[in-house]
Amino acid sequence: MNFQEQYQAYLTQIEAELGKQFPLPELLQKKVFHAMQYGILDGGKRIRPVLTMAVCDMLGGNLADAARVGCAIETIHSYSLIHDDLPCMDNDDMRRGKPSCHKAYGEDIALLAGDGLLTRAFEILAEGGTMPPELMLRTVKEVSVAAGCYGMIGGQVIDLSCENRKDVTLEELTELHRGKTGALIRVCAVCGCLCGGLCDESDEKVQKIVAFSEKLGLAFQIKDDILDVIGDEVSLGKPVGSDAEQNKTTFVTLLGMEKAEEELTRLTAEAKTLLAGFRDAEFLLDFADYLLERKN
Ligand code: IPE
Ligand code: IPE
Ligand code: MG
Ligand code: MG
Ligand code: MG
Repeated sequence: MNFQEQYQAYLTQIEAELGKQFPLPELLQKKVFHAMQYGILDGGKRIRPVLTMAVCDMLGGNLADAARVGCAIETIHSYSLIHDDLPCMDNDDMRRGKPSCHKAYGEDIALLAGDGLLTRAFEILAEGGTMPPELMLRTVKEVSVAAGCYGMIGGQVIDLSCENRKDVTLEELTELHRGKTGALIRVCAVCGCLCGGLCDESDEKVQKIVAFSEKLGLAFQIKDDILDVIGDEVSLGKPVGSDAEQNKTTFVTLLGMEKAEEELTRLTAEAKTLLAGFRDAEFLLDFADYLLERKN
């Protein structure tokens, strides 16, 4: 299979898993289930579950477990987007090519749908699949830390505190990106290793795969910042110019477009080097290039 066929094969499994995890029960509170479906189904590149599955696949692990764990991380990512778009955050009206969740359902239900997705993610992790209980618990712990105040939430807080500031340093911005975007991408690689049977974090292979994902995560947010300036709103499915409107500090505002592009290329190349020596790494190597060149 070539890269696109393999990506499509992962996507088919991911969409089936998400479809299964997000039914519409006939309950008094069904509005929140509608809003959760709206936020998670039919949209997104699904790069996080794809990464989880691809790492697991490279290591010869159980792909059904990786799809489920990756979808739990995608569920947290989708909640973070709903909250990120709220008027009190980035105040963006479009997401994944349609009105943001709060535009479609109102701020109250959007807030609760985000909370619903976050809690549902841990239910999905706790299903366990074929994983022994201690490994399932490891995924819960790793994902909690990555999604929480040491990870994604922490990064979002630093992002807010850097608005309207002219003196943000490269170190601060890198720490911001490491949290808000990098942490969830990193934990996909960690969980891909766990599903693939690599459970010792001091193992050299684990360290290389995780370092690969850290560089990829930073590169991913630099690309997001670049697309916020030069992207095409229709392909992106979200507004362009949102960062400038909110006076955000980004790699583009700090380094300029040319240097930001150089940094993106350099990090992608460094990430790929870390996979030298792995068998069956073709997909992940192509994945790094796909993220570098993406238009959405
Ligand atoms: C957008 O993430 C938000 C960031 C963390 C940069 P994605 O670019 O992965 O968004 P979707 O899931 O494809 O919509
Ligand atoms: C948001 O970063 C990352 C999270 C949702 C945690 P951005 O605010 O740059 O993401 P977009 O550009 O709105 O997708
Ligand atoms: Mg934001
Ligand atoms: Mg945003
Ligand atoms: Mg952005």
